[in-house]
Amino acid sequence: MQDLTALTEAAQTEITQCSNLNELSNLKAKYLGKKSSLTAFYGTLKELPPEERPAFGQALNEAKQKLEAMVQEQEEKIRQRLWNAQSQNQIDLTLPGICSDIGSLHPLTLVMREIEDIFLSMGFEIAEGYDIEDEFHNFDALNTPPDHPSRNLADTFFLRDGNLLRTQTSTVQVRVMEKYAPPIRIISPGRCYRNDKADASHSPVFHQVEGLVVDERTTLADMKDALQNFAKLMFGEKVRTRIRPHFFPFTEPSAEMDMSCTICEGKGCRVCKNTGWLELCGAGMVDPAVFDFLKIDSEKYTGYAFGLGIDRIAMMKYDIPDLRILYENDLRVLRQFR
Ligand code: DAH
Repeated sequence: MQDLTALTEAAQTEITQCSNLNELSNLKAKYLGKKSSLTAFYGTLKELPPEERPAFGQALNEAKQKLEAMVQEQEEKIRQRLWNAQSQNQIDLTLPGICSDIGSLHPLTLVMREIEDIFLSMGFEIAEGYDIEDEFHNFDALNTPPDHPSRNLADTFFLRDGNLLRTQTSTVQVRVMEKYAPPIRIISPGRCYRNDKADASHSPVFHQVEGLVVDERTTLADMKDALQNFAKLMFGEKVRTRIRPHFFPFTEPSAEMDMSCTICEGKGCRVCKNTGWLELCGAGMVDPAVFDFLKIDSEKYTGYAFGLGIDRIAMMKYDIPDLRILYENDLRVLRQFR
């Protein structure tokens, strides 16, 4: 009996001090397992005088139950403590996740891509030019006389090395015709620069999409068809177009194309200044003088070209009242394009 009491006490001390589940499982084997002293005690029962057996047997059973209960209680304590420690730095899976701010495309990029897709569907390819250009590509090769006012410092940003920031994407016409022989069928979107003060409808940086088609027997009717088709694909079937005579040094004849105002559908409003029409692009038949500059046979080939202002299209499409909004990168505006 004394040995049993001593054993139970020793077991109690060890079990209540135990702090990890592995150790606890070892203690359980040590005190309650097949090879434990307790099990051995059961073996001694038959050596006792018969009258002492029931009392000792009962004491053994009680000791066993007590130890089993102790082990279980300790196991719960350890588990609870582990859970508490873990839950302190644990993620609460019921909370909403943190969304990363992935940004969005700028309205100009959206419009640019839409225009590209439309012209790609009409068999055009996309050509690239340079923002920094020389006078030859921006003016001379485009048949612009040396005294033309656009060459003025007040209109064009010249760089110290004599180069300039292109004032129009028409430079890409020159780049393409220098490099490739007809047939040519390209568009080229990009930035342009002019020495303008920023206001609601002007910006020193703006965007154009240039178009150029050169082939045998290309006519003004082809130009009209392509631009009308573009207007309908971009602004919907209901849109109407008209062509007015104009002047550009690099086209002959030259024209401007207007489209019916999409805001008031031609009735007249603030956006179209009550005319019902909005200017869509400059265009014309490539002047043979330009072909001559670029050694393209102007007897054999004809072509048309056009230049679309992208900023205005974006303003119309998204109802943006002031050009500067496109360049201020105000997140409150940009987030609306997500
Ligand atoms: N480059 C002209 C501008 O900036 C627009 C333009 C007009 C482009 C006629 C063309 C064209 O290709 O044929 O005002």
